[in-house]
Amino acid sequence: LRTDLLASVDAAGSLDALDAVRVHALGKQGAVTGLLKTLGGMSPEERQATGPRIHSLREAVTDAIATRKAVMERDALDARLAGETLDMTLPVDLPTTGGVHPVSQVMDELAEIFADLGFAVATGPEIEDDWHNFSALNIPETHPARAMHDTFYLAGEHERPMVLRTHTSPVQIRAMKAAGGTKPVRIIAPGRTYRSDSDATHTPMFHQVEGLVIDKGITMGHLKWTLETFLKAFFERDDIVLRLRPSYFPFTEPSAEVDVGFSIQNGKRVIGGAEGWMEVLGSGMVHRKVIAAGGYDPDEWQGFAFGCGIDRLAMLKYGMDDLRAFFDGDLRWLKHYGFSA
Ligand code: PHE
Repeated sequence: LRTDLLASVDAAGSLDALDAVRVHALGKQGAVTGLLKTLGGMSPEERQATGPRIHSLREAVTDAIATRKAVMERDALDARLAGETLDMTLPVDLPTTGGVHPVSQVMDELAEIFADLGFAVATGPEIEDDWHNFSALNIPETHPARAMHDTFYLAGEHERPMVLRTHTSPVQIRAMKAAGGTKPVRIIAPGRTYRSDSDATHTPMFHQVEGLVIDKGITMGHLKWTLETFLKAFFERDDIVLRLRPSYFPFTEPSAEVDVGFSIQNGKRVIGGAEGWMEVLGSGMVHRKVIAAGGYDPDEWQGFAFGCGIDRLAMLKYGMDDLRAFFDGDLRWLKHYGFSA
């Protein structure tokens, strides 16, 4: 019996088969268990002679099964590990990860550049009342600039007519009011603006950044230096040349449109040099009436302001040519310009 049982332990080809052998030998109805039961009916002499042999048989079979089991489990693990080798040279399909949109990226850059110059970031509502958007900025109701702005008006009854702000300039008024008429103001205000206009270079929603400095003894020299320093930092070039052209905005006097020089490289316009001029922003000395509307005494306080299209800045910096692509959310476009992985 011992030889038979040990042979069937060796012959078991699987853990299940081995367990069947265990039940056959050591289970309740098992062969070895049966032998053990016969001990009860034996005389003491018989039991003393036969007992140790049966017990040793049980021990031998138990040990053999445990050993066989350990071997089979190790073999199974070896086989699994062998099958699981990784081929590090296989190409992987990386998931698409998000990125910072070029417009947000430029807003972050602007905040950083102007923070170095001592400017804080200010905000205002996109749904603005017409006093902040127009009247306080010296654009009275009859002013043609109201029509020029292609304004979106909100339907319904309001104390003051409400508009989607057509520029970030209303934040000038809000920032001055917040400063209380006694402290200098130095802010930029980046954000969304709206005009009813749509073609390759205009979208109904677009982005501007406003700049405002209110202090004593401010001149156009401060304006020009600030813009030059900002544009050099933004385009990361020292050969930035500015040209201030006399212009008109109701809220600045005098007003200047600012052109930045570009050069042609491989048939493309690149900011820097002065082979040609590109208009990039509007600016001027804050109008007395605007300073007064902001709660400051215009005989004591002066300031400069500028307003600049952020989408335009991003297009120039990253060499993009269709404004509308900014708002399509097309991953291929974002990936192409390195704004998504
Ligand atoms: N708000 C003007 C615009 O949208 C830009 C501007 C801002 C001009 C500040 C002068 C001063 O065109």
